[in-house]
Amino acid sequence: MPDDETPSFHADPYERNWIVFSVVLLVAFAATVALAGFALGFQVPGDETRVDPRTVADSPPWSEPGLRDLGNGEYEVYMLAQQYLFQPREIRVPVGSTVTFYVTSVDVQHGLKLQDTNINMQIVPGQVSKLTAEFDEVGEYPYICHEYCGIAHAAMFGTLIVEPGGSS
Ligand code: CUA
Repeated sequence: MPDDETPSFHADPYERNWIVFSVVLLVAFAATVALAGFALGFQVPGDETRVDPRTVADSPPWSEPGLRDLGNGEYEVYMLAQQYLFQPREIRVPVGSTVTFYVTSVDVQHGLKLQDTNINMQIVPGQVSKLTAEFDEVGEYPYICHEYCGIAHAAMFGTLIVEPGGSS
């Protein structure tokens, strides 16, 4: 027994190093999430509304999937995912546009990843997934299905084209 009866914290240096390491890791993870969310604009797709996957393709606005010009460089895309294509397969917007995607599936679960943007979401039948992205650079942005949805899953893709020139 030690003579000193005052309680104090003793940790083996090896153990203490692991405690410090764990705390540093937690701080690093929290900082990464904060950076992605606030600085880089990563968002979790919103569960916007619910729809009936059996009838959604026949009801507005889904009956005419595609781009809507809201003015001031703002756009909406209503997109349907189905085995094995996206409607629309091609989207064209002027550079500087802000585009909000509303995506749902008419059959099974799909995914939507739009390269070089924060658009990366699951597309679940019955649910509308919503995310917004800004397009400040001219170029082609392929989008793919990234949830295995059947035999031709790999053929399920499209392209968003950002064109030069100001927004209308
Ligand atoms: Cu749709 Cu994979």
